[in-house]
Amino acid sequence: MSHEKVETNVGLLAIFIILVISIGGLVEIVPLFFLKDTTEPVAGLKPYTALQLEGRDVYIREGCYVCHSQMIRPFRAETERYGHYSVAGEFVYDHPFQWGSKRTGPDLARVGGRYSDEWHRVHLMNPRDVVPESNMPGFPWLAENTIDASLTPKKMEVLRTLGVPYTDADIAGARAAVEGKTEMDALIAYLQGLGTTLGSRR
Ligand code: HEC
Repeated sequence: MSHEKVETNVGLLAIFIILVISIGGLVEIVPLFFLKDTTEPVAGLKPYTALQLEGRDVYIREGCYVCHSQMIRPFRAETERYGHYSVAGEFVYDHPFQWGSKRTGPDLARVGGRYSDEWHRVHLMNPRDVVPESNMPGFPWLAENTIDASLTPKKMEVLRTLGVPYTDADIAGARAAVEGKTEMDALIAYLQGLGTTLGSRR
């Protein structure tokens, strides 16, 4: 009888549905905030250097994530191709994450160290110079734009408030570390660091 009441009253039904989904969602999500596996960095994880951090901003601005994920799933087909599957502790200093799910191009979670800096430079200028069948666009302007070094220390200060362990010395040296560097230099520094804490791709 009472069940019929709920089923014939749309308002009541909606309230109960929202209640059930909320509790179900909380039960799944809340424990993640307290699990060490998801909140603690993996051993040896270092925050991005000033140059890598700027490169990461270029990565986001250019929309690289639209075609590239940074998340290796724990399946054989993935680990054979990309290396060790991704673990949450590798990303605790990432704000925001670049996991993504769209893979027009390969996953980049462990691309660090896979190619030389020079390969990346040629590839980013015009991908078809090194991978003839590539449909990735070129990003030649990155080689001309220089980084605005006045902003780097501020970015690091903000990240520190979110828990990234930058030292005063890191922040004091940030400006000098990126002064005069191009966006291309920064992006390559970022790519070369990706996923290297847990070993890189072959
Ligand atoms: C329109 C989709 C698209 C966009 C946008 C794109 N890529 Fe790619 N990317 C690809 C494809 C497809 C490949 C595979 C062919 C190749 O190597 O060029 C690739 C390959 C790569 C590789 C080599 C990966 C490997 O394991 O061999 C790197 C590194 C890379 N892209 C970086 C970037 C960066 C950095 C950006 C942003 C500046 C970017 N891509 C934007 C499609 C894209």
